[in-house]
Amino acid sequence: MTDKNRVFIFDTTLRDGEQSPGATMTHAEKLEIAQMLDEMGVDIIEAGFPIASEGDFAAVSEIARQARNSVICGLARAQLPDIDRCWEAVRHAKRPRIHTFIGTSPLHRAIPGLDMDQMAERIEQTVTHARNLCDNVQWSPMDATRTEHDYLCRVVEIAIRCGANTINIPDTVGYTAPRESADLIRMLLERVPGADEVVFATHCHNDLGMATANSLAAVEAGARQIECTINGLGERAGNTALEEVVMAMRVRNDIMPYSTGIDTTKIMGLSRRVAQVSGFPVQFNKAIVGKNAFLHESGIHQDGVLKNVETFEIMRPADIGLNEANIVMGKHSGRAALRSKLRDLGYDLGDNQLKDVFVRFKALADRKKEIYDDDLVALMQDSTANT
Ligand code: KIV
Ligand code: ZN
Repeated sequence: MTDKNRVFIFDTTLRDGEQSPGATMTHAEKLEIAQMLDEMGVDIIEAGFPIASEGDFAAVSEIARQARNSVICGLARAQLPDIDRCWEAVRHAKRPRIHTFIGTSPLHRAIPGLDMDQMAERIEQTVTHARNLCDNVQWSPMDATRTEHDYLCRVVEIAIRCGANTINIPDTVGYTAPRESADLIRMLLERVPGADEVVFATHCHNDLGMATANSLAAVEAGARQIECTINGLGERAGNTALEEVVMAMRVRNDIMPYSTGIDTTKIMGLSRRVAQVSGFPVQFNKAIVGKNAFLHESGIHQDGVLKNVETFEIMRPADIGLNEANIVMGKHSGRAALRSKLRDLGYDLGDNQLKDVFVRFKALADRKKEIYDDDLVALMQDSTANT
């Protein structure tokens, strides 16, 4: 029996993520990231867009051959040569998937110049073709959140009838809001015949900073696949960040009782590697994986964390594979943190000695933004030399 609260994680770092201007990765880097995603327990890896270039084709084919557990998916436009090329690349996988899409909103329908009926016919033809090649087909109405509801229901029904097993609902331009994201999934599940036979996916962009909230809202309404990228890498403001949705469902499992297959202790390693190979550094205060996400500098916070870590931490750094100290010394640090830090460095100070070192520590912290262990050791050596 399938677990109705199991949420599939679909990672598109290597496709939508790599579409960020300047984030191009080499062939070897893509293989390495794919292997890490596979080992982390990502259910589906979207490895690239095989018709886009020879390089993309080669990367998708090799990732397909190397993957051990994950489904390997390639993207294809609603055109038969795209779908054939995609199948050529993914067919080497133990578990291949073809993902085909077309823009269904009025703005997107105008681009190929198709009217509603012509587009419906194209969807019927291309999804049927994909399903004749591969028994695992995902279909996306691009810009779904700006598509008329009646038309969206009509085309989703066609895709299901033609054999799509996963229906992805993209918020292509990051336009939706959480309540609307949930209502849209609920509406499709209620109105489209056959909707209960397929998996609904949510694919959010972060233009208004709501991608994580929108994805989780869609899950609460019945979506069971979240499309996301490591560090939220992606065009413009990026995609839903994998680490955010996964940790949100884990930390707030009391109100979001969903599970994933992700080994969260691998999150930090992937985040750092994706930042290196994409050349996109992670902002310091980024949720979960930012440099400061687990650091405490102010005296009140440090004191609290030293007494009971739960005062200011809702998850443990080790949960995401971070095994570094969570206290950073700076001008806001208090005496308790200094004493604890010095003890870690091998200096057990009496009250008077601590008082003296604390004065000199504060003077140093006024001149220097961050105080490293070496600075404290120098301070201690100085203080011993002067006594
Ligand atoms: O954002 C989007 O609409 C996409 C589709 C290709 C799924 O990335
Ligand atoms: Zn996208």
